[in-house]
Amino acid sequence: MSELRFLTPAGSSELQVNRSSPCSLEEAPAAASKPRHSLGVLHASYSVSHCAGPWWDIASRRHKWTRQILKDVSLYVESGQIMCILGSSGSGKTTLLDAMSGRLRRTGTLLGDVFVNGRALRREQFQDCFSYVLQSDTLLSSLTVRETLCYTALLAVRGGSQGFFQKKVEAVMAELSLSHVADRLIGNYSFGGISHGERRRVSIAAQLLQDPKVMLFDEPTTGLDCMTANQIVVLIAELARRDRIVIVTIHQPRSELFQLFDKIAILSCGELVFCGTPVEMLDFFSGCSYPCPEHSNPFDFYMDLTSVDTQNKEREIETYKRVQMIESAYKESTMYRKTLEDIERTKHLKTLPVIPFKTKDSPGALSKLCVLLSCVVTGCSETCLPCPVPVLRAVSDQESEDGLYQKWQMLLAYVLHVLPFSVIATMIFCSVCYW
Ligand SMILES: Nc1ncnc2c1ncn2[C@@H]1O[C@H](COP(=O)(O)OP(=O)(O)OP(=O)(O)O)[C@@H](O)[C@H]1O
Ligand SMILES: [Mg+2]
Repeated sequence: MSELRFLTPAGSSELQVNRSSPCSLEEAPAAASKPRHSLGVLHASYSVSHCAGPWWDIASRRHKWTRQILKDVSLYVESGQIMCILGSSGSGKTTLLDAMSGRLRRTGTLLGDVFVNGRALRREQFQDCFSYVLQSDTLLSSLTVRETLCYTALLAVRGGSQGFFQKKVEAVMAELSLSHVADRLIGNYSFGGISHGERRRVSIAAQLLQDPKVMLFDEPTTGLDCMTANQIVVLIAELARRDRIVIVTIHQPRSELFQLFDKIAILSCGELVFCGTPVEMLDFFSGCSYPCPEHSNPFDFYMDLTSVDTQNKEREIETYKRVQMIESAYKESTMYRKTLEDIERTKHLKTLPVIPFKTKDSPGALSKLCVLLSCVVTGCSETCLPCPVPVLRAVSDQESEDGLYQKWQMLLAYVLHVLPFSVIATMIFCSVCYW
């Protein structure tokens, strides 16, 4: 077995998380009354077709080119585990998360299945099951942290007293170390606000309020300094230990995080070239005659090894061949076979655990409309102007994909909100013109 000790610097004690031993569904001790949840992606492929020329060039529009973005990707992960997906820019990480969470646009063709607890998910079930934290934070800048989370809680959970919501929000803020900035504005580039790392935490907190069992994070560390990035990843790993399935894509993790992940997957040009535990990763690449040099960051080393260099044709052919060789070795490995066996086994379990949907006890349409109206009115109280449409649109796109409300509810709330402004503006304009 490969030596892991050299990868963990002496000062990385704060990165220790309470790791539960990863055992399979059938090995789960009988004493643990709760069954482990599982997520399997089986032979996922995604391709898009585009017309070759501009719309006015009729001749060229007859020709279409097709590009395969994901190629036969299979993954398996259980609750209590955190999986890290690595890959160079454009390798298909975001597309894979979008495919898993049912958020791909209908322009492409997706093949393959997503199984949760052994059952293939239907399209309408995706948003009720997955919680997805996007690469960019879409939050209303003119609300405070507490207001943002209160509105999310009011939209996600039905009934409950004022105290119930307050307690829930305070608990999530404490869990994510946000209590000290609870009354500060989210802000933006023009009028300041909380830091980028704190904004990331608010986005995670908003998802946690919906009590998800499957959480996907797309590049949660982008734009953060090393220390904040590590803190965020450790926090996400902690969330996984609390009986959740967590999948996270990261560009350039630090070597200290190597042992934090239960599984590491590497994508290259849409193909899965490796997926296994950190120890299996070291063994596998050593077996392919690419041992990780001592004192180097295994993430950097393996990423370089599995990236296609397109700087010139020779390098491209050479690196592509290497990636193909690694990919074939992985497809013949026991790790790949085990992934397929695990997915197959969960389908045939005698007692399948129920699909872990997010809190479904959400308020009615009218209550949601009132909450949204209150949200946009509070949002404008800081600037005394209606919320900018592009910002509101981005927030409503994201939150409606999360299943918090329908897009038309936010639109209606906005129309009701701007109505008085429009009436007053028209009256002033008419009065000036008239007199
Ligand atoms: N709908 C689409 N039509 C055409 N090409 C697409 C579409 N969606 C994704 N792609 C292409 O697929 C490739 C993978 O994109 P994706 O965003 O998944 O990469 P990524 O690994 O997340 O990259 P990054 O690390 O930069 O975020 C890119 O080259 C992208 O241009
Ligand atoms: Mg991406």
